[in-house]
Amino acid sequence: MTQFSEPFYLKNLKLRNNIFYAPIAGVSDLAYRRMSHLFEPGLQFCEMVKMEALIRKDSGTYDYLTYDDFMHPIGAQICGSNPKLAKEAAKIIEDLGFDVLDLNCGCPAPKITKDGSGSAMLHTPEKIGEILSNMVQAVKIPVTVKVRLGWNQEKIVVHSLVKIAEDAGASLITIHGRTKQQGYSGKASWLEIKECKALAKTIKVFGNGDVVDAQSAHDMFSTTNCDGIMVARGTFGKPYLAQEIKSFYAGNSLKTTLEESLNYMKQHFEKILEVEKDKRALFSMKRVGCYYLKGFPGAKKIREKIMKSTSAEEVLIHLP
Ligand SMILES: Cc1cc2nc3c(=O)[nH]c(=O)nc-3n(C[C@H](O)[C@H](O)[C@H](O)COP(=O)(O)O)c2cc1C
Repeated sequence: MTQFSEPFYLKNLKLRNNIFYAPIAGVSDLAYRRMSHLFEPGLQFCEMVKMEALIRKDSGTYDYLTYDDFMHPIGAQICGSNPKLAKEAAKIIEDLGFDVLDLNCGCPAPKITKDGSGSAMLHTPEKIGEILSNMVQAVKIPVTVKVRLGWNQEKIVVHSLVKIAEDAGASLITIHGRTKQQGYSGKASWLEIKECKALAKTIKVFGNGDVVDAQSAHDMFSTTNCDGIMVARGTFGKPYLAQEIKSFYAGNSLKTTLEESLNYMKQHFEKILEVEKDKRALFSMKRVGCYYLKGFPGAKKIREKIMKSTSAEEVLIHLP
């Protein structure tokens, strides 16, 4: 049975382990990645970018792809539905120094699906193959794909995607155990992840959905036999999730206290201030702060103070 493993290989690329932090639009920004890096996930991703925006050199798009040298190996995720542009976009990502390139076939946002990208790609599995194949031909770095089970319960296509991605030369398929129609609600279904892992010949299969702590990570491994896991929401306010899972497999259990969580939150705030200023920094601190304090009964007062703050400086004054 596959389990947590150190190291882990994607093609010839040696990674620390098989716990990956997902691309998360609006969350996996530079400050988040600087914070997450401290706890050594096997790989982390920048926020998703559109192929078209990369090619027309949209500066905001390139801002999303800023990373520090120490973050290597680092992944980028692109979305789009035009096979020709996929080639060009893939090359740009490789030239920017990324170590892994992922194709998004799971984003349910209407602004992405309206032109057939993201989860709308699940309507045309053969096109996913064509795009992946073009990406693989364009670059030397490992090409991966992140998918959902299908558009809705009546149109589950994920099993066919395993072979399609494998034939296209992709190194990894990450499966989010929900349909597009489910969005992010309800419980993720891990059954299809298990079935896909059993179908896979050469391609690695990662499980994604509802892994939030060491126990659920272990459950994902043992239920599905997946080659690795990708975590998203479980890292919100818990950049140490990878550490928690590693400790579990080393026979220790990590129990984070409010004091430790406040300390991590402070470090994250400092990293926000390294990249953002004024109102933007304040907004980010409020967004991030809530997560670090969630679930700690003693945190109500400090949460209120952060939420009422009118400047980043005021937030810092309120920290113990
Ligand atoms: C706010 C938010 C933004 C997301 N952005 C992306 C994205 O840009 N690319 C992607 O592949 N998945 C994205 N996802 C999906 C997650 O990567 C993941 O598949 C999903 O949340 C299920 O995993 P989890 O239960 O560990 O959160 C996003 C999820 C959330 C909640």
